[in-house]
Amino acid sequence: MESSLELSEPRLCSNEGTISVTRRDSSTLPDGIERVLLTEDDIQARVRELGAELSAHYGCRKPLLVGVLTGAYVFMADLCRAMDIELDVEFMAVSSYGIATETSGVVRILKDLDTAIEGKEVLIVEDIIDSGLTLKYLLDVLRRRNPKDIRVVALLKKIRPDVPPLQVDYLGFEIPDEFVVGCGLDAGRRFRNLPYVAVVRTA
Ligand code: PRP
Repeated sequence: MESSLELSEPRLCSNEGTISVTRRDSSTLPDGIERVLLTEDDIQARVRELGAELSAHYGCRKPLLVGVLTGAYVFMADLCRAMDIELDVEFMAVSSYGIATETSGVVRILKDLDTAIEGKEVLIVEDIIDSGLTLKYLLDVLRRRNPKDIRVVALLKKIRPDVPPLQVDYLGFEIPDEFVVGCGLDAGRRFRNLPYVAVVRTA
């Protein structure tokens, strides 16, 4: 597997707004949203960069993009349209057993791939990496199916020093450890369709 060190660095998004974060008037935000963390322009520009990097890497080798339902559907749709190469798309759904927002550390497959991946170049497409549990499980499961190569692209990764390093070959943004929604991410089945990434109001 090639090193990812030469690839572009993820954009760092801090609470202080080191990138072009729009602090919209809170009256224009949906009820339940505290503030915008990443604007639609920030996200679309980064997705175009990732699409170009991935297109350059895969060329004519036709990767299989595996989106992780449900959250990754928006990023998958944007990313695959930013890739000007031939590719294939599938989705998997997994679920963590656990109580409310606390993960139990156990993951199970709710929807598996429709095709075999042996000998294929697989790209896992995730919307967010939080505890890393979902990605670790998927990598373990898919590696056992003998693909030629597995890479990972994630739109967001939370900055969590407590989480052990995981394989993430292409990353959109590192973000603070806050409850975020939009671009596929939900809170109680709301906000997946917001075109920006926002922090949920907690108080
Ligand atoms: C989210 C997200 C990732 C996973 C990341 O999915 O889409 O797949 O959590 O969290 P982790 O790194 O702690 O494992 P979620 O389980 O909320 O399901 P959803 O995509 O259907 O909303």
